[in-house]
Amino acid sequence: MISASILSADFSHLKEEVTNVITAGADRIHLDVMDGHFVPNLTFGPPVVRSLSKVSRPMDAHLMVTNPEAYLADFAGLGCDVITVHVEAAHHLHKVLTEIRDMGCRAGVSLNPATPAVTLEPVLPFVDEILVMTVNPGFGGQKMIPEVLEKISKIHRMIDASGRGIVLEVDGGVKVDTIAAAARAGATRFVVGSGIFKSSDYGATIAALRKNAALADTIAV
Ligand code: DX5
Ligand code: ZN
Repeated sequence: MISASILSADFSHLKEEVTNVITAGADRIHLDVMDGHFVPNLTFGPPVVRSLSKVSRPMDAHLMVTNPEAYLADFAGLGCDVITVHVEAAHHLHKVLTEIRDMGCRAGVSLNPATPAVTLEPVLPFVDEILVMTVNPGFGGQKMIPEVLEKISKIHRMIDASGRGIVLEVDGGVKVDTIAAAARAGATRFVVGSGIFKSSDYGATIAALRKNAALADTIAV
């Protein structure tokens, strides 16, 4: 499954970019919401997502913000299917995840590269998706940090042992030539930003991403 991060899209043609990437085969639109506080960059918030919700489905909101609880109702109300908060930003993680589910959304939790897998253990029953950052969040177009792949394998084993159908997603530096390594580590959903939006043919790129992810699965077996 491919989630297209619009962070690297042409913002002056956002509607067309979203429509094109969905037509090209992306499974959902990944919204990188940044506050200039939790991460050193500013992007967009509910007003932009409100406009996008008219053309884009499904959507997942990756909240890279301090105090994510203040914005849950906004993103849920705008039809986001998944709302993902950071372990490092949510002081009351269990409460936040429970609130997301109560609002009718899937609850996602994300880890920065330096945050250990063990922080997820207490919240596994309350999580639908785990988003592992393979770059330090804040910017698109960075290189994947390969050392994080080991953590993905570890989380994959934790999910297996829990018996819960939690989706394991990877975010940061996923490209046609790096997706196989992430798939081999156990990720089944891939956030791709610059890898798609900086390519000349979105459809061909998404097809190549899928092919390489599937090949990696075969190798892993
Ligand atoms: C980083 C964001 C990512 C990023 C992905 O802070 O969470 O979603 O934009 O972009 P690429 O694929 O270019 O690394
Ligand atoms: Zn993201």
